[in-house]
Amino acid sequence: MLPPRDRLTICFAHVAYRFAERFALRGTGIVHVEARSRAELDAAIAGADVLVCSGLWRNDLPAIAPRLRLVQSCSAGTDQYDRDVLRQAGIRLASGQGCNANAVSEHAIAQILALLRRLPEARDNQAKRHWRGMMGDFARREDEAGGKTAIVVGTGRIGGRIARLCKALGMRVIGVRRDPTQGVDGADEVHGFRDLPRLAPRADFLVLACPLTDETRNLVDAAVLAAMKPTARVVNVARGRVVDEPALVAALREGRIGGAALDVTADEPLPQDSPLWDMPQVLITPHTAGETHSYEDNVLDMMMENIERLWRGETGLFNQIV
Ligand code: GLV
Repeated sequence: MLPPRDRLTICFAHVAYRFAERFALRGTGIVHVEARSRAELDAAIAGADVLVCSGLWRNDLPAIAPRLRLVQSCSAGTDQYDRDVLRQAGIRLASGQGCNANAVSEHAIAQILALLRRLPEARDNQAKRHWRGMMGDFARREDEAGGKTAIVVGTGRIGGRIARLCKALGMRVIGVRRDPTQGVDGADEVHGFRDLPRLAPRADFLVLACPLTDETRNLVDAAVLAAMKPTARVVNVARGRVVDEPALVAALREGRIGGAALDVTADEPLPQDSPLWDMPQVLITPHTAGETHSYEDNVLDMMMENIERLWRGETGLFNQIV
């Protein structure tokens, strides 16, 4: 059970987000603290009944959090939380699924368009004050989305919106999901994860928007990459480890695929010595696909919904994971 409103303490733990400031504007009167680092979180967690966090989470926190009853993740993905540790400690977990669905899906489309329109190259040329001429070489000329095929892996709120936005650009969309019988609004076809190697040759863009699970870890492996067209690109707004990164580096280095736009990598930050940094056919964004000015308010709405459910004695959470 959660303590009542006048005895509840919420800890907002994030390196940058302005949860406390946005929460204070709601005038709830609920006590809240803000932690900006692991050290600050360690110091605050013993007094918290509710924790809002994502990247600062560690699975040894429950051991020093005797009051903690609810973790409202502010990430859509919850692969960082050990479910068993939470269950044993009697702590509930809700994901932030949906809070950044617009942002992440728009980021994936931005990545597709940036690669097609060669925007990174234009920006590099701008830095050199170089006015590039028109291109006879198709391999180096800008292109359009219409008529291209996108395979969208993971068709939840993010992948579903990517599918609909790709359709709006005149693309053919193949959805790939764990249970294909559930269909995908917006996709022309839907298949299961295990069909990916067979589908891969059809992709101009292989767009990854699935959670990281035992089923999706290394889903895009050397065999899938080998089946792709030499012009095809990988767009990853999911988790780095959905892709076998050494196999991706090899496919890019050997020109066996056309390029990649990566918002996520196996290790983050991307290590300084990663060959991905220097590849002109790779567009890297630093796990910012979900960023939006609406982030804090979207998560606070979910958190309040879940706190109110627990106050009412309900057992089901919004976006329940544990
Ligand atoms: C971002 O990566 C998220 O999981 O929301």
